[in-house]
This record gives sequence, C-alpha cells and structure tokens, in this order.
Amino acid sequence: MRTPLVVGNWKMHGSCAMARELCDGIVAARSQYDGVDVGVCPPYVLLPLVAETLRGSGVRWGAQDVSEQVSGAYTGEVSAAMLKEFGAELVIIGHSERRAMYGDTDALTVLKLRQAQASGLLPILCVGETLEERKADRTEQVVARQLDALLQQADAAALLERLVLAYEPVWAIGTGETATPAQAQAVHAFIRGRIGGSAAGALRILYGGSVKPGNASELFAMPDIDGGLIGGAALKSEDFVAICAAARGRLATA
Ligand code: PGA
Repeated sequence: MRTPLVVGNWKMHGSCAMARELCDGIVAARSQYDGVDVGVCPPYVLLPLVAETLRGSGVRWGAQDVSEQVSGAYTGEVSAAMLKEFGAELVIIGHSERRAMYGDTDALTVLKLRQAQASGLLPILCVGETLEERKADRTEQVVARQLDALLQQADAAALLERLVLAYEPVWAIGTGETATPAQAQAVHAFIRGRIGGSAAGALRILYGGSVKPGNASELFAMPDIDGGLIGGAALKSEDFVAICAAARGRLATA
C-alpha cells in the first residue's frame, strides 16, 4: 500500500505569526486526516518555529530546496546535512519555479537529490510541462526527459527507493487552473510506466497545481495519484486540512 502523502509548499510566504497559527491549526485537526502522511515545507528561516510547533504531532516538515554541495564557500546555500541535523525530514527538489528562475537543470536536480538522500532526507522530485509544451503535445517527452536524468543513473534503482515524485504541470501552478483528474492520471500512469518494475508500484506520485478543497477528492480518487503538493491552499489551515482529509479516501481503496 502506498500511504497517501500531502505536503504544503509555502514558497516565499509567511511570518512567525502566520507559521504558528497555520501549524497550530494543522495539529489541532489531526484526527481529520488520520492515516495520511502530512508535511509542510516553509521558508528556511521559519523552520525552527515550525519544528517547535509541530513537535510530537507526527506532521513532517522540511525545506523547499537544498544545495548540491556538501559544504564550503557557497554563499546563500543550505546543505542537506544541515537540514537533517536540524531535524528536517523532507525536501522539495526541482520545483518548476526553481527550474525556470534559478537555473535548476535536470542534471542539477539529480545532484541535489543525491545530497538529500545521502543525508537521510526524503526528496520530493518535481516534474511537469509548461503550457507551450502541452499545446505542442510534448508533455510525455518533457516529463520523460526530466525523469530520465534520474533513471539513467547507474544506481537508479537505489535512488528510487527513497523518493517521492510530484507531477506539477507548470500551467496549473498558482493559476487556479487544475489539470482534470483524467489529465493528471494519464501523466501519473505514464510516469509509473516509465519507471517500471517493482519500484514503480511502491513509489508515491503526488499531483500539484491548484489543488483546492473542492477538487482534491476527485484528483485523489485516481489510481495513480497518491496525494498532493499544495501551494496556495497550504497557506490556510482549514483548506490544507480539508485537502489532507480528502486523501483519506485513498485509505479505503488501498
Ligand atoms: P499551487 O502550487 O497549489 O499554488 O498551484 C503548487 C506548487 O507549486 O507546488
């Protein structure tokens, strides 16, 4: 069984007051998403507060990015070992905003993923096509290229063992335009097929892109959608909790 997973990506939003309120709200509603793996990824500076507020709750937390380097003169970077020592469990890697704005290439995401795994973090690797690519009917080609950077590694099987994937069509991120459950399912099935073997059956693949309380259940009802990576709707505890609760629907069918 693939335990459903819902992770909030706060991006560059929040303050100490907001983080505390949001985390308190998530913890208080715990019984609503019993059985679902839940996590939040706030900006680095809010991690201490989030760690403290979530302590003992079972809600996981982590970062939105990590350095591909171990340590050294890399101004502005944070290493996987630092995150792990601090108690983080999760790290988002290769988000489309990082790919588009900060030069995260397919090759760089693999290096970051290696660092994350070497330190014992659980990486959430994001893939997804732009609107232009979808319109040109290149969705599978783009997602395959992003995945193959990982699958072509000599130790790909080992890398796949401790990994979560997130399919996030760029045109659906922050736009209010969600992929239909059928559109998302088709790409999730494609990803699982490309990975193949026993690794594919065990791997959790999240959907991300304008997931809201009103559309989460129908997305999570798809056979290959194991949960969500949530942006805007993760900033309000009631919305985020409702999405986490929607993932409970998968427990009945799993
Ligand atoms: P969104 O963001 O839910 O605001 O579309 C998702 C993401 O970027 O991970």
